[in-house]
Amino acid sequence: MNQSRREFIKKSSAFGVSSFLPFNKKIFKMNRKLRTAHIGVGGMGLNDLKAISSHKNVEVTALCDVDSKLLNQALKLFPKAKIFRDYRVLLNNLDNEIDAVVVSTPDHTHGPASIMAMKKGKAIYCQKPLTNNVLEAREMNKISSQKQLVTQMGIQVHSFYDYKLAKLLIQDGIVGKIHTVRAWSPKNWGFDGKLPKKEDDIPDNLDWNLWLGTSPYKNYLENQYHQYNWRKMIGFGCGTLGDMGVHIFDTPYNALALDVPQSVINICRKPNEIGFPEKNKVSYMFPGTKFTTEKLKWIWEDGKSSPSHHNDLKLPNGDKIPQQGAMFVGEKGRLLLPHFMEIPKIIIDNKYEMVDPSKFEKKGLLEKNPTRDYEKDSLLHYHEFIDACLDKKKCSAPFSYSSKLTETILLGVIAGRFPGEKLNWDKEKGQFREKKANLFLKQNRRLF
Ligand SMILES: NC(=O)c1ccc[n+]([C@@H]2O[C@H](COP(=O)([O-])OP(=O)(O)OC[C@H]3O[C@@H](n4cnc5c(N)ncnc54)[C@H](O)[C@@H]3O)[C@@H](O)[C@H]2O)c1
Repeated sequence: MNQSRREFIKKSSAFGVSSFLPFNKKIFKMNRKLRTAHIGVGGMGLNDLKAISSHKNVEVTALCDVDSKLLNQALKLFPKAKIFRDYRVLLNNLDNEIDAVVVSTPDHTHGPASIMAMKKGKAIYCQKPLTNNVLEAREMNKISSQKQLVTQMGIQVHSFYDYKLAKLLIQDGIVGKIHTVRAWSPKNWGFDGKLPKKEDDIPDNLDWNLWLGTSPYKNYLENQYHQYNWRKMIGFGCGTLGDMGVHIFDTPYNALALDVPQSVINICRKPNEIGFPEKNKVSYMFPGTKFTTEKLKWIWEDGKSSPSHHNDLKLPNGDKIPQQGAMFVGEKGRLLLPHFMEIPKIIIDNKYEMVDPSKFEKKGLLEKNPTRDYEKDSLLHYHEFIDACLDKKKCSAPFSYSSKLTETILLGVIAGRFPGEKLNWDKEKGQFREKKANLFLKQNRRLF
């Protein structure tokens, strides 16, 4: 045995840890708090930081952001934390001082930061969607399963009462086997415009090179990318599908135990190589499961005045369809799942039926008396991750699940490059039958 390995085992056993135990068992034996590092601490990252640190067994050890104003705002909450601008420096320097990493950056940095951290054996809480490209989603799943890491994707509504209830009702067969799902959001995270031919002054507080990370170089333009608007831009986000779609797809995807789709068509405007379309109508065909008919059709609509009229979405008593949501259409009736914090509605023969959760509550599958308090209920998903790191629970949205959900979403985004064309997906090969579409499965990584 060489010197450094002997040293490592000596150090590990000082904490009562065997170096051969998988990650979660290691932490469990450590008998101390879980040390977290947070990459991206502005916007949603600040919420993630507050939610993760609200668990009594967490010690916030490091904060990282490429925007010093946002980093300082987070530092005020955790003045003892070590601070970094570059996540690579953080992960290399603090390898022995952190156990889990929370990645809350824009989508294009999820993969590179999480993969580097996973290779160092860290547990990961990564915001949704897992990444902006299919190959990275697959790579993230592969590494996490090879290393048996605790992972969770940041779709906190996954752990909300009404979503769990919808899943139980569907799997109980209340509306029969499902043949169609319609899901919609009128939000617009697309960009049909043009970019000005100029570069704005980069603010002193922002490291633009680090913000771009592995993505292709772009001129800095105020309010075009940092903050939030990167969602609309090719090479960075994934449009409305990648933003709202992930949340709204999640329950039907989970309830119907779906795998990735066999084919996809996106009806939208022609690609402009700048932004994602402002309006998409995406139709997927999935292989059947025990909760669906032989095949399952799934239609997603986003952008202004979505969804378009369809009889599947007509409600009893002339009621108005919720602004965002999903409708499961089954052999016996329909289930409407508003997004979010509203009880699902069952519709049979164009009449509402009583929804009775008591059966599931009695079996302990659902908590009693839901509070529908967004702040409080959101914590469940974060704390589930921490408890899984401490070997007390299992994550409900690990990368083995969320990488497939992300792949599904991204196939619809790629279909937007070929408006109105049906693309056939071979999940074993990880390739489209239409070779031209395979060019968009990965993102070339820039050295930075
Ligand atoms: N689960 C949810 O409900 C929810 C809600 C909003 C956003 N999100 C997700 O959270 C992520 C962030 O979204 P947002 O709206 O907060 O974006 P944002 O642009 O407002 O914030 C991103 C933060 O990351 C920082 N950052 C950017 N590149 C970085 C890098 N390389 N290293 C360190 N920090 C970096 C930015 O400076 C900023 O503080 C996205 O993946 C988004 O999809 C999830």
